[in-house]
Amino acid sequence: MTSTRSDHTDYALETEAISKHFGAVRAVDELSLSIPRQGTTSIVGPNGSGKSTLVNLLSGVLPLDGGMVIIDGAGLRVVKAYETPDHGLTRTFQEVRLFDQITVWDNIMVVLTERRLFPALFERTRPSTRQKAQSILEQVGMWEKRDSLAQELSYGQRKLLEIGRALAMNVQTYLLDEPFAGLFPQMLERVKDIMKQMREDGRTIVFVSHNMDIVRELSDRIIVLDSGALLAAGDVEPVLNSEEVIEAYLGE
Ligand SMILES: Nc1ncnc2c1ncn2[C@@H]1O[C@H](COP(=O)(O)OP(=O)(O)OP(=O)(O)O)[C@@H](O)[C@H]1O
Ligand SMILES: [Mg+2]
Repeated sequence: MTSTRSDHTDYALETEAISKHFGAVRAVDELSLSIPRQGTTSIVGPNGSGKSTLVNLLSGVLPLDGGMVIIDGAGLRVVKAYETPDHGLTRTFQEVRLFDQITVWDNIMVVLTERRLFPALFERTRPSTRQKAQSILEQVGMWEKRDSLAQELSYGQRKLLEIGRALAMNVQTYLLDEPFAGLFPQMLERVKDIMKQMREDGRTIVFVSHNMDIVRELSDRIIVLDSGALLAAGDVEPVLNSEEVIEAYLGE
């Protein structure tokens, strides 16, 4: 589903003083930021700085302890994960999540059909749905693997399939938590290409990465977290070359 609402805000995502605490750990601490519509925004920061927690809050996987998430101009005090596609947003996980017992093909088909139960009974055989599944699997380079069970895939293939499942959601905004982590160079290039294509298609992409070469290559802008707070945000080079950011990384 594509968000068809008019551009009533320049931002795909905004947060107002959002917090998430785990006991004494302030994983995300009164964090306010805005992510413009379209283009690619990277989220970086030392290990444990709150990047995944932020993605979990933005995607409704974790409930907020405080503050507000604003998706596409709509303020949502409480966002539930299963509702976020209705707000034009989906995400992938640092630890890939798939349906392991079914095929690659079915992992895509369930996404293309799952949100309308009754039509889904018929939709699975519809040529347009099958065509869509094929084009997604081709885009992520998994067409040849369509009959394999998800559990038989390599780590990199699992990442590609998870991205394919996100693409099948056909939303405006994609949050990708470490899509490049642990990938061999060839896979890495493939994921980069997919993300460049998504950007060209006018999507909003937010990704977490520790790979600064990739961050530089793909990002229109960057957000740096440190200890759950915003350290810096803006254009990539000035931010990465700023003293406070260099210091935060030296301290890692
Ligand atoms: N479910 C949880 N229970 C307890 N503490 C948590 C939980 N999730 C995260 N934390 C803590 O919150 C802080 C931020 O964690 P988070 O995973 O968001 O960091 P990150 O920036 O994604 O790190 P990495 O680069 O290692 O992926 C860390 O101190 C972490 O130990
Ligand atoms: Mg993380």
